[in-house]
Amino acid sequence: MKVVILPNDQLVAHYGANIIKRQLADEPRSVLGLATGSTPLMLYQLLVEQYQLGELSFRGVTTFNLDEYLGLSGDHPQSYRYFMDRNLFDHIDIDTAKTFVPDGAMARPQAAAQEYEHNIKVSGGIDVQLLGIGVNGHIGFNEPWSSLGSRTRVKTLTARTIADNARFFADDEYQPHLSITMGIGTILEAKNIVLLATGKSKATAVKNTVEGPITAGCPASSLQLHPSTTVIVDEAAASALDDPEFFKHIERENQMLLARNDL
Ligand code: F6R
Repeated sequence: MKVVILPNDQLVAHYGANIIKRQLADEPRSVLGLATGSTPLMLYQLLVEQYQLGELSFRGVTTFNLDEYLGLSGDHPQSYRYFMDRNLFDHIDIDTAKTFVPDGAMARPQAAAQEYEHNIKVSGGIDVQLLGIGVNGHIGFNEPWSSLGSRTRVKTLTARTIADNARFFADDEYQPHLSITMGIGTILEAKNIVLLATGKSKATAVKNTVEGPITAGCPASSLQLHPSTTVIVDEAAASALDDPEFFKHIERENQMLLARNDL
């Protein structure tokens, strides 16, 4: 696991956007795994800006989002399909038929989950999976004690996650308590994983992810088993790590090697 600690959330977004940019330069027909939530918003804005400047094209790209609320159709303003359309897809040259978000309005969600897995496989698998992290260490909607081998399925949200996300719903608005989410096993099959975390509220989750034991109690700790995961955090999110200087040292060394073209 590579841990990159940067001074602020803007630099976190830039670092993450550059990984996507390099991926698309190497392979214009890449398959990207995407996340919603507040953390990746700045990164999506940067991708849109780079597309508008002509530095990036998404024409050949396929995307799979991590999750969706069960019971919300894609035109609901709180659905993750709506979020992705408004914050990214509507502003770039991607073929919308190649943007997959689990269908929260399907009559048979378990069947929809299996179809989602099938579509990921048929696409050749995810090249870069972008992740945020919940304050309880969840990734996607895989809450603590989700099976580390889980696949795309229907999951109940914890009271904590419902409370955290309540800010996006009006007081009298229906807020779903169920989701459809890629499983931890699904996420771990991505060739590369990029997890972004910013702000003090994520510090304990980041510590448990990076330094803790691998446990279903912190789903993101499973990423320690993945061969190519980059965790990009700002100082606040890194503030509970035992030895942040170690990771800063490694990253300085990596940057030096990169500059000399040794990596
Ligand atoms: C969203 C998702 C979630 C979020 C996490 C952090 O698609 O998969 O796991 O990444 O809840 O959310 P924010 O970024 O809003 O703190």
